[in-house]
Formats: sequence, C-alpha cells, structure tokens
Amino acid sequence: MDDIEVAGIIKLRIEDAIAGLALSTEARWNQTEEDWRIFLHEGVVFGIRDGMRLVATAALLPYPGNNAWISMVLVTATHRRRGLATRLVDACLETARKNGLTSWLDATPDGAAVYGPLGFTPTLQLRRLKLATSGRAAAQPPSSATLDELRARDRRATGLDRTALLAAFAQRPGSRIVAANGAIALVRDGRTARHIGPLFADDAAAALTLVDAIAQSETGPLLLDAVASQGAFPEGLTASGWTIERPFQRMRFGPATAMAEDMPFAVAGPEFG
Ligand SMILES: CC(C)(COP(=O)(O)OP(=O)(O)OC[C@H]1O[C@@H](n2cnc3c(N)ncnc32)[C@H](O)[C@@H]1OP(=O)(O)O)[C@@H](O)C(=O)NCCC(=O)NCCS
Repeated sequence: MDDIEVAGIIKLRIEDAIAGLALSTEARWNQTEEDWRIFLHEGVVFGIRDGMRLVATAALLPYPGNNAWISMVLVTATHRRRGLATRLVDACLETARKNGLTSWLDATPDGAAVYGPLGFTPTLQLRRLKLATSGRAAAQPPSSATLDELRARDRRATGLDRTALLAAFAQRPGSRIVAANGAIALVRDGRTARHIGPLFADDAAAALTLVDAIAQSETGPLLLDAVASQGAFPEGLTASGWTIERPFQRMRFGPATAMAEDMPFAVAGPEFG
C-alpha cells in the first residue's frame, strides 16, 4: 500500500450498510441493504477506507455452536491485488480463533485464490443458477409452510441452529416459505433477482417439482445456489431453462464441528451458508 493512503482495519457500524451495499452492487451481487444489516447487526464486519470511501470489507457471522460464516469479502476494483482481502480475512480468522469458532465460507473462483493460501480446505461444491424469466404469476402458488418446519429441516441438513437468520428472512415483506411433496424452501427478495434457498427435499424429483411450482408463480428472474453433488437437481434445472452463472467452493478453516445428517438441495446463499 505505498501509493494510496489507506487507514487501518476498522469495525463497521450499522450506518455503513449503504457503503457496503455499494461494494456488493459493484461486484453485481444480489445482496440488499437488509442483508448488510444482518451482518452489521448480528456479526462483525471489518472494513478499510481510503479517505472517506469504504473500499474493502469482510464479515464474520457467528452461528450458535462454535461455527461462523465469513462472507462479503469485497474489494473495489481500483484497490485489488494489494493484500486488502487477505488482511480483512485474517482479521475475521483472528476473531474466530479468539472466540473458538470454526470458520466456513463459500468462495467465488477469485475468492478461492485468496483463501487457499490462508489455510482453508475445500468441502462442498455449489452452482449458482439463474432463471432469467420465471412464469406467469397466475399459476397457483405452492402451499405455504411454517418457519418451524424450515428451521428443523435446516438444522438437520446443516448441523447449525440458524433460527435467528431464518426468522429474519421470513419476516421480510416479500418472503415466503413454501412446500410440496415433502420439499420445503424459502423465497426472498434480492437486489436484482428473487432468491430460492435454503431448499430441502427427500429426493431430486421433489426438489425440482417445488422449484418449478415456485417459478410458475413468480414474475421476475430467480437465483438459487444448488449443491453440485445433488447431480440430478442441477441437471434437471439446466434442462428446464436455468443457466449456471458461476461455481462456488465451500471451504472450512478449523475442525469440522457441525454434524449434518442430510444434504440440502440449495443453500441459503453463499454469504450465509
Ligand atoms: C476476490 C477479491 C476479494 C480479492 O481481493 P484482493 O484485495 O485483490 O486480494 P489480495 O490482494 O488479498 O490477494 C491475495 C492473493 O490472492 C490471489 N488472488 C487475488 N485475486 C486474484 C484473482 N483475481 N485471480 C487470481 N489470484 C488472485 C493472489 O495470489 C493474491 O496474491 P498476489 O496479488 O500477491 O498475487 C476481489 O478480487 C473482489 O472483490 N472480487 C469480487 C468479489 C469476490 O469475488 N469476492 C470473493 C468472494 S468469496
């Protein structure tokens, strides 16, 4: 950092939500201001400013049971390859270490290049899929389901207690929890597209039927983050018009502590796990 003045790492506050949103929007991510508020309120968000301008961020979101999600690792284009992401992720890891937390993240290909050398090891692979135009909205929407049902399935599939996160999603206007044939999913607003996830099902056929019913009852573009090893699910989606936008690599730093009994079909989002 010899050619620009960058102050040290600071802890961001709730007032920084809009500046954070500017960075995720620059990266063309789907997060909303409400998403940033979750990280700023429930977690720790580290940032670096250049003068008044926020130029880099990384967030650590703790979940009960000694696990935490690292995300929102963003550096504005003009400040990349100067070690800012590395320093911010180091700050997250140090905070996790002090609190005895195992850290997880879902890395973009660019991010994986940063995290591998820091000691993260790869676990699951995910695929971000997009449906550019969903259905007619006139179709009968799938039946609604309760937050308790979603929370129980989420716990079985992730080994994490994410009651607070799922409740925050469910309370937003525009969110809905839907179910059919033993499959259940949450649908919420994003900046550019509605997001389906997490999604749990007994088999790929039930997962695909639920996604189709959701798509038929929505009007705009949809996104979801499918677990790649649920092969028939991402394959069925691409066969019905969804396109793969990018891969994500789930990575872990520290011992595996969360015991999952089940595998999700789609995760809550790379920023939340
Ligand atoms: C990924 C991102 C956060 C990296 O930020 P950064 O501050 O440039 O990263 P660093 O300078 O700490 O990079 C550390 C090392 O990671 C590797 N690296 C970083 N970006 C890379 C890229 N685009 N391609 C290949 N390697 C890369 C390099 O080895 C780099 O060391 P070097 O510059 O000495 O060669 C930034 O490019 C970004 O905001 N991208 C868009 C959003 C995104 O994908 N975030 C990651 C989400 S998981």
